[in-house]
Amino acid sequence: MKRVSITEQDIGSADSIIKEAAEWIRRGELVAFPTETVYGLGANALDDSAVQKIFVAKGRPSDNPLIVHIAHQDQLLSLVADIPPVAQQLITAFWPGPLTLVFHKSHLVPDSVTAGGQTVAIRMPDHPIAQQLIKKSGVPIAAPSANSSGRPSPTQAEHVQQDLKENNIFLIDAGSTQVGLESTVLDISESTPVLLRSGGVSLEEIENVIGKIVTSTETLTNQASIAKSPGLKYRHYAPKAKVLIAEAKDFLEIISKYPEKKIACITLQRDMLSKEKNISIVPMHSVAEMAQHLFSIFRECDEKGTEIILVESVPPIGIGRALMNRVERASQPH
Ligand code: TXA
Ligand code: MG
Repeated sequence: MKRVSITEQDIGSADSIIKEAAEWIRRGELVAFPTETVYGLGANALDDSAVQKIFVAKGRPSDNPLIVHIAHQDQLLSLVADIPPVAQQLITAFWPGPLTLVFHKSHLVPDSVTAGGQTVAIRMPDHPIAQQLIKKSGVPIAAPSANSSGRPSPTQAEHVQQDLKENNIFLIDAGSTQVGLESTVLDISESTPVLLRSGGVSLEEIENVIGKIVTSTETLTNQASIAKSPGLKYRHYAPKAKVLIAEAKDFLEIISKYPEKKIACITLQRDMLSKEKNISIVPMHSVAEMAQHLFSIFRECDEKGTEIILVESVPPIGIGRALMNRVERASQPH
């Protein structure tokens, strides 16, 4: 792994680093890079053998398709079979940004990217480094989150290094990501748009633009959506600790059931205190802050040997919906 760092002050003068990273992409190698959601592990989306390297590095099942990242709308035309009218509305409203759209694919997209399927997921990230990397590479970049399969998505370069250091990867460190949870995935390949994964663009924002969409598919066990988006069936976002979701008022009662256990409480109650040595409180100002830090807190808890992570439930509104979705997935039995 080759790790280089770009700080906020020199984002404008990061040219030579991005140029080198783009060369790695063109050579068919892997580049881990920041987006506004989480770090991605990228390869030239048009190069089948480069894309295969992503699956090997992550230990990702080959039936789980990848998102293709583009930097301008022209790139979309060659990757998809058609652009439905609803797509144009969504693109105008949300790109660049954390919304991934699923289209019918063109013949240019290799089977490894789509896991053999006839659709392709595409997004235009809203991050200067991601955008410059795609532009300088001159190709669309296929990129899943840059964690090893099953681990929480990386929101810092350090997380990528923890998971993937044994691999030949060019890692661009540009600090913590803004949103902290992955993009929303919306299937627009059939007549009614279907939410496959909630994320950085909220359901309310989408419905404001295109009206009601199908959301039942997002539940953890929906067989139809698993068939559409195989990634849903795999265990995700999981720390080693047991994850429990509860209202803040019930925290004390739950804690009392686990005497001696090492417990972390993620809560919006900023005045929550504990004198117990085995209990740590992680106070958050807002649901957005909780979303931004959830995955890094999961990783810290793993390092500290936390046995139980108690997460305050929040209303499934705005980013709260994606947050609760990830916490619920993390709380599935090991
Ligand atoms: O924010 C994000 O989306 C990040 C950054 C790096 O862009 N990427 C990301 O990729 O989260 P990944 O691979 O970890 O999650 C992609 C999800 C998976 O659940 C996958 O099954 C689904 O999108 N997906 C990809 N292609 C699809 C397709 N053609 N049809 C349905 N679902 C698809
Ligand atoms: Mg992922």
